[in-house]
Amino acid sequence: MKKITVSAPAKIHLLGEHAVVYGKPALVAAVNLKLTVVVSSNGSKNNSYDLSKIIEPIIKKEFKIKTIPKYKLEISSEIPVGCGMGSSAAVSAAYIAALLLFLNIPWDLDLINKLTYEAEKVFHGNPSGADNSTIVFGGLIWYRKEMPDLKIIQKLNFSIPKKLANNFVLVNTGQPKESTKEMVIKVGNLYKEKPQIVEKFLLEQEKLTRELLFVIKESKEDELIWIIRQGEKNLESIGVASSYVSSIIREIEKLGGAAKICGAGGSTKSTGMLLAYHKDPDKIKEAAKKNNLSCFQVDLGVKGLRVE
Ligand code: MEV
Repeated sequence: MKKITVSAPAKIHLLGEHAVVYGKPALVAAVNLKLTVVVSSNGSKNNSYDLSKIIEPIIKKEFKIKTIPKYKLEISSEIPVGCGMGSSAAVSAAYIAALLLFLNIPWDLDLINKLTYEAEKVFHGNPSGADNSTIVFGGLIWYRKEMPDLKIIQKLNFSIPKKLANNFVLVNTGQPKESTKEMVIKVGNLYKEKPQIVEKFLLEQEKLTRELLFVIKESKEDELIWIIRQGEKNLESIGVASSYVSSIIREIEKLGGAAKICGAGGSTKSTGMLLAYHKDPDKIKEAAKKNNLSCFQVDLGVKGLRVE
């Protein structure tokens, strides 16, 4: 029996979400929440996952093949769905990679990333490509989409210093009512109606994301807190953080920390995962508990897609 197992990490935007859709840089980290896909030859009938209806046509088109031999597909995941941690990119990337190996197509991360981006377009309409690139290549990724066919995907040659890395906490505010696609469209509409607001957001977010790169490399804690606070304020200016979540973030700020939405956010209530930072991470855990929210610590900058 042929059996291929591929795993993918989650991702978290340290900064740059939404701005990255408009060609600004984003700094994104692969996170150690694992999604696993198993493709095996003991499938007697075509599998029932709806996802196959998206992934198989992408592979057939790329390799100009009409049929794919029957296979069994199994998916298991630790990544919360629709919470800004790249669950759609992770499942697409791992599935594409496993199916390509099943078809005896050699492992090629650039190709897998390109095909995963095609799947992301089906899910999200106009994705930047930052989520899939981080999940596929892993580590800390500096991402910038210059043109549809020209993307800078730079894997950084340093990791987040321990002193900083140990103080990040993820706080789960729950799955937003709005999808990533809807939030990206919402920002697009705001850009049409009030271009000055979005232009200001884009310029400031680019500046902050560049500063963040330096601050992380140099392990500057006070500056890091300041950047996350400013970045969040900026995200709030384009309406991607609900008032419910903004007030929780204000509580964390009052305690001396910082927090931001991650990914597309949400405007009604829940916004998915928050990336929070405090010199004493227990303070964030207390704030999360007070608000009945779960929270946990993760490793940032882990390995990307791999065969298990
Ligand atoms: C979604 O995880 C991040 C957004 O910037 C959309 C994208 O980059 O495609 C909101």
